[in-house]
Amino acid sequence: MESLFSTMIVLLLVSLSCFTSSEALKSNKGNITIKWDLISWTPDGYVATVTAYNYQKQRSIPSPGWTMSWSWTSKEVIWSIVGAQTTEQGDCSMYNENMPHSCSSKPTLVDLLPSTPFNQQIANCCKGGVLKPGLESAFQIAVGNAGDSVKTVRMPVNFMFTAPKQQYVCGPTKNVRPTRFITADKRRVTRALMTWNITCVFHKAT
Ligand SMILES: *[C@@H]1O[C@H](CO)[C@@H](O)[C@H](O)[C@H]1NC(C)=O
Ligand SMILES: *[C@@H]1O[C@H](CO)[C@@H](O)[C@H](O)[C@H]1NC(C)=O
Repeated sequence: MESLFSTMIVLLLVSLSCFTSSEALKSNKGNITIKWDLISWTPDGYVATVTAYNYQKQRSIPSPGWTMSWSWTSKEVIWSIVGAQTTEQGDCSMYNENMPHSCSSKPTLVDLLPSTPFNQQIANCCKGGVLKPGLESAFQIAVGNAGDSVKTVRMPVNFMFTAPKQQYVCGPTKNVRPTRFITADKRRVTRALMTWNITCVFHKAT
């Protein structure tokens, strides 16, 4: 009887917290949207451009900037990143020749500084994590052990986006309509192989 009662309490709490986070995700005060565009397949995974858009009209992400983290669902590794870095490499002791940038199952990423050499930048990277309203912040990531087709690839989950003195709540990773890219001469449209969106909303000041 007592255990039935505590189960009910737990269910109640779970449904309450689901309610608050899904309500919060419909905030009309804007959001941070993180978009993963898979650009190409590699022998053991893919290359993706990851872009965080600040769709909040008032709120800026100040220095020392944003951090982003997620969980891989299998044995994915990050071979390399252009325009950002993980804060820890994690345990890459299984590798000896080519060393991944990160072997952590829950990598945490930060932006690079504006002083980063130009040949190690991509468009919209390297602002020291500062993200003003209406602007975007991007990096490019090469993921290994990741499946190599739309059928076998796995989306990262449990996104967290944090900023100095600001707490955000992120929703689930969603497989959305692939982004269309228009070439510089505007005469050709290409498509991402897959696109995943994650929406995060401001929860509270910390
Ligand atoms: C995030 O904000 C943008 C811009 O205001 C809006 O178009 C989009 O629908 C929002 N996303 C969600 C999931 O609320
Ligand atoms: C995914 O995010 C991008 C960038 O904010 C947006 O343009 C696109 O409409 C979003 N897709 C969906 C289905 O929300």
